[in-house]
Amino acid sequence: MVVASAPAKVILFGEHFVVYGEPAIAIAIDKRAYAEATLRKDKLIYINSVNLGVSGFFKGRHFQPEKDKATLDKLVPIKNSVTKVLGKANETIGVNLDIQSDIPASAGLGSSAAVAVSTTAAVGYLVGVKLSKEDVFEIALDAERLIHGTPSGIDPAISTYGGAIIFQKGKDFKPLDVKLSIPLVVGNTNLERSTGELVAAVRRMRDYYPSIVGEIIKIGGEIALRAIEALKRGDLKVLGELLNINHALLSVIGVSNEALDHLIYAARNSGACGAKLTGGGGGGCIIALTEDSRIKKVIAAIERAGGTAFQARKTDEGVRVEP
Ligand code: MEV
Repeated sequence: MVVASAPAKVILFGEHFVVYGEPAIAIAIDKRAYAEATLRKDKLIYINSVNLGVSGFFKGRHFQPEKDKATLDKLVPIKNSVTKVLGKANETIGVNLDIQSDIPASAGLGSSAAVAVSTTAAVGYLVGVKLSKEDVFEIALDAERLIHGTPSGIDPAISTYGGAIIFQKGKDFKPLDVKLSIPLVVGNTNLERSTGELVAAVRRMRDYYPSIVGEIIKIGGEIALRAIEALKRGDLKVLGELLNINHALLSVIGVSNEALDHLIYAARNSGACGAKLTGGGGGGCIIALTEDSRIKKVIAAIERAGGTAFQARKTDEGVRVEP
């Protein structure tokens, strides 16, 4: 039996704009997805996702759900990662996969990427295929394409490598050396949404208003660059202001909504340095940069505004095989 795990992420700056080649900054946080892999005697692939409440068997392309037919879409990306790794082993082996996660699903915290990353690592270790982090990232990115259409790759990258990174599509990821602990509160609207649909909606808006949306995307990239400097200086005031400006741009491209704005204003009004939505938007989560002394106050304000909230800490540990 092998268990591997991978962390959730929050995007500090640059979601959506990153899909069009602008830089974005993400950190891995201390919530993880766990994949437990065991060998089967037959050649089936069995996947059980505890959090999604779905499970079923794959025999080649044929799928046999355990409970509900509608589960196929949710399990196919995971199965894709498993078969890719088995393909590298050049063997047709059966595998059981049990997935459990601390990461809320469809909330902008990269749960699907963390599941794909941990699955890939667990199955690779189980069948004795040596996978570099780059291999794990590529296989997980392929699974993300099945879920999100045209992902930038930022989610599987941060989940694989951990820490803080500057991500730019098509370029090598740069680890960002931040001394600052980046004190954050994550607030969840608990409205689930599809990142793929939001990315597609932004693309339609950009196609319709190329010069306007194109400029907004470029400004999004400039904010990320300024934020890198502020992170290096440990300047919470400027970082807070940049978060607020970044959120305004995300509103302009249509990915915020009333529920998100409600939590964001609750956080700002209770003393956060700045707040924005994080991830795809349309529901899911916000982040609030909050000095340590005000964390409890901000969490309480978000909860009074109808969300759930927790303090998030950066973790440097990306994907790992559990002892
Ligand atoms: C999703 O966590 C981040 C988006 O920018 C999509 C992507 O980069 O793949 C919205």
